[in-house]
Amino acid sequence: MSEKKGELSDRGRFPDIDERSDERGFSRRRFLAEAGGAIGLISAASWGLPVIGMGKAEIEFIQSSCGEADKAEARVLVAYASRAGSTGGVADAIGKELCAAGAAADVLLLKQVTDLNSYDAVIVGGPARSEKWVKEARDFVDNHQQALSQMPVACFITCLKTAPGQPSLSLRGPEPEDEPVELKRLRVKAYLDPVLKKAPLVKPVDIAVFAGALDYSRLKRPEQAMLKSTGFIEGDFRDWERIRGWARGLFPSLLKE
Ligand SMILES: Cc1cc2nc3c(=O)[nH]c(=O)nc-3n(C[C@H](O)[C@H](O)[C@H](O)COP(=O)(O)O)c2cc1C
Repeated sequence: MSEKKGELSDRGRFPDIDERSDERGFSRRRFLAEAGGAIGLISAASWGLPVIGMGKAEIEFIQSSCGEADKAEARVLVAYASRAGSTGGVADAIGKELCAAGAAADVLLLKQVTDLNSYDAVIVGGPARSEKWVKEARDFVDNHQQALSQMPVACFITCLKTAPGQPSLSLRGPEPEDEPVELKRLRVKAYLDPVLKKAPLVKPVDIAVFAGALDYSRLKRPEQAMLKSTGFIEGDFRDWERIRGWARGLFPSLLKE
């Protein structure tokens, strides 16, 4: 792909910002390649100015606990990654629903998790990013493969592909506009295939795909530019009934044996 300044992004492709953008501020190469239409930003990026952080609203990452560990039927960790905060709401709703069903649950950011020994089951969640599960979630499953193989594990992915009104795109090009949501979910679920291939001892009891949220004020400017240029619309697409229903249905498979 060309890296010429001022080149217009291809509206037929899902924007591709990979993890490097999150770890090092942003991926200058990909930004230049894919968001070339955003001239002002490109000029700043080309000069190496500190673009990142500018224009990004403060984000709250929910962490919570509920239930009484010594009386609970299962102690569950709901560990999640997030960039713009919306996955935390999903994790929190799952934790609360599990507690209502008889569990004790800790909802923690993945990077805050130090120990899995005090849990009977773990749910790992995170958003889709450039057709992958976000890096911290992938690394978590990989790094804790042994411990996770000894207890019930479930995973969830938040995304925009299954949200109504969003463009039907992939990194390989346009996808059918009228594709049923179940098929879109399968496409997103497949983001976990390489993760589970790398950590074959981890056998999730279930993998859920939930529509997430998009709030441009919570994204770095290069990300805003990329998603806007490909026609992604803002909104909160989280389906709370579906999310809680999943947690309720999942509970029996998380119980200690
Ligand atoms: C840079 C970027 C890349 C994304 N890539 C994908 C993707 O490949 N597939 C998808 O369905 N959603 C994708 N999304 C949508 C996010 O997964 C969705 O907005 C999610 O709810 C964000 O979660 P968070 O608010 O916890 O960060 C992307 C969003 C951004 C900002």
